[in-house]
Amino acid sequence: MLEIGGDGRTWLLSGPTSSYALSLTEDDSLLHLHWGPRIELADAEELAGRPLPPYRGFESQLDGQEEYPVEGGPRFVRPALSVRTDEVRGTEWAFHAYEVEDDELRLRFTDHGLGITLHYRMRHDVVERWVTLANEGPVVEVLRADSATWTLPLREDWRLSLLHGRWAAESRLVRTDLTYGEKVIGSRRGHTGHQHLPWVALDTEGATEERGEVYGCALGWSGSWRICVAQLPDARVQITGGAGYDDSGLLRLATGESYTTPVFAGLWSDGGHGGASRAWHAYQREYVIPDADRDRPVLYNSWEATEFDISEDQQRELARRAAAMGVELFVVDDGWFGKRTSDRAGLGDWTPNPDRFPAGLKPLADDVHALGMQFGIWVEPEMVNPDSDLYRAHPDWVQFQPGRKRTELRNQLVLNLARGDVQEYLWEKLDDLLSSAPVDYVKWDFNRAFTDAGWPGEPYPQKLWVEHVHAFYKLLDRLRAAHPGVAFESCSGGGGRIDLGVMARTDQVWTSDNTDPLDRLAIQHGFSQIHPARVMAAWVTDSPNTQLNGRVSSLRLRFVSAMAGVLGVGGDLTTWSEEELAEAREWVGLYKEIRPVVQRGDLYRLRPPAGGLSAVQYVLGDEVVVLAWLQAQHYGEPAAPLRLRGLDSAESYECRETGEVHRGAVLLHHGLPTGLRGDFDATVIRLRRI
Ligand code: GLA
Repeated sequence: MLEIGGDGRTWLLSGPTSSYALSLTEDDSLLHLHWGPRIELADAEELAGRPLPPYRGFESQLDGQEEYPVEGGPRFVRPALSVRTDEVRGTEWAFHAYEVEDDELRLRFTDHGLGITLHYRMRHDVVERWVTLANEGPVVEVLRADSATWTLPLREDWRLSLLHGRWAAESRLVRTDLTYGEKVIGSRRGHTGHQHLPWVALDTEGATEERGEVYGCALGWSGSWRICVAQLPDARVQITGGAGYDDSGLLRLATGESYTTPVFAGLWSDGGHGGASRAWHAYQREYVIPDADRDRPVLYNSWEATEFDISEDQQRELARRAAAMGVELFVVDDGWFGKRTSDRAGLGDWTPNPDRFPAGLKPLADDVHALGMQFGIWVEPEMVNPDSDLYRAHPDWVQFQPGRKRTELRNQLVLNLARGDVQEYLWEKLDDLLSSAPVDYVKWDFNRAFTDAGWPGEPYPQKLWVEHVHAFYKLLDRLRAAHPGVAFESCSGGGGRIDLGVMARTDQVWTSDNTDPLDRLAIQHGFSQIHPARVMAAWVTDSPNTQLNGRVSSLRLRFVSAMAGVLGVGGDLTTWSEEELAEAREWVGLYKEIRPVVQRGDLYRLRPPAGGLSAVQYVLGDEVVVLAWLQAQHYGEPAAPLRLRGLDSAESYECRETGEVHRGAVLLHHGLPTGLRGDFDATVIRLRRI
């Protein structure tokens, strides 16, 4: 809902529980008024009438007050917008007009021919913000154009939550006190990166998992990015974020050209971190993730089992075993195309390897379909191995700088997707591929960062960083439109490309190359802060763990860990015993039963993974699912009963496992015993309101 003050210079956006308000001063400064619980227009107008602090020789009246601080004038905070022409640097805008279209508010400003439009849209309790620049004046160099600056109310003792990591260790939650100065996270790698998910949360006044005020901000951008959390000298907190890591030049806009920033979304919740996560999940399921009401199938992928050593017969045999286990989607990972028998060759040549698939992928795809499963493949379109037909034909299609070395990581180079000819090549190859065999699913990988992002011959090569991401999005959008039955997974060596931008055009994401069931609990705990289980792919792989640590763990632990997201199986099924295959079949069957609740329900993190007992709970209508894990039992003490959440205290719930009936109030206040004991134990408990 959007309300506008009588003078046409105050705006109030409201969602079910929260409001966001802003206003223009007489001299066209755009001030932030409110972000928090729902307020009325009269409240916003009172705030708009409050005088600004006075100017002093060393302090700005505007710092910490503005919606979108531009560079220039009496401002010393980090500018969200930094531009220059041949003559001047910075911005002095004049308000032009506001527009409302559907649920979107647009505030238009101009500065010597440069149109600057701030966009606002409230969806549930999430405020989406972005900016467009449209140049009708002389050439403008855009050094930085952030999507938004968020301003928090004056409170004491803010805490900052971040998700940090690296390859095979993504999205680990850290929570620290915020202090004066700036905390900057981001990626200067050309992709979202494993190092941080583009999300921060700030809480105050002792907020907990289920209580208190939490502010969250998440960026929808799959290239380099930066989020800066600043506590200003007057204790006010601002969060500024957008595409690009630094301010050295994002793009150049000639007369008639325009640029739209990615969306930076913000959320206020007074339901603690759990409430904030549930609100983010609901928002993504309704507005971001395609077809989110369609549950994702159980998949099988042999990457960990076979790596590059694949053949049609071997895949067929694995498919037979996977189908017998109840798997619904069989995926051929790396190694099916070109000369791709190792990571040294083949990327770029997107036709089936004739030695491995003499008649193409169709015969295998048909067999997989005949087994009652969907068929999927792996691709990594943005990359090329120097040892490939594509690179031999077009060595100038990669990112490089003349006279400098072309840095190979994982023996591959990055294609310059900003080039129209590269875009067209990839479109044709991928469109052909999806037309040549009945493919239902594509795992789209991105296995190295940018290092030599040059573009010889292009007068403004910096634009490559932004245009690569736009080309990637355009390619995905075009493929989705042409092949509407095909689902896509975003992968980047695990979770290196997870953000709201890629989420809007893929059906699920590969959370991490780390499939160890214990490490995964922490990775999944962090992931769940922002993204829902519906997109969080998780595989059961072999024990001992082959990829990382040799850890031995039961099938039970591996399954219950992976059942917290979109279940997959990634072990070498040819080495699993008949008993293991039979047990796996039971787990897959159980997962299918609980899947709607896991993938579409509300998530409650009952206990974080911290070495002992941890658990999550999902609620959908009358159905409740609890997944619990006990890493290690000590001193013979029984695992504590799990106090459930989100139940009706006056209702009764029947446990599907034991047949026992529990009162909601008892489950909420005294808890549900799990019976977990020993080390690495795990359980699934289903309850139904009766
Ligand atoms: C990346 C992915 C893996 C696998 C390999 C294939 O590392 O994260 O799951 O697909 O590439 O090369």
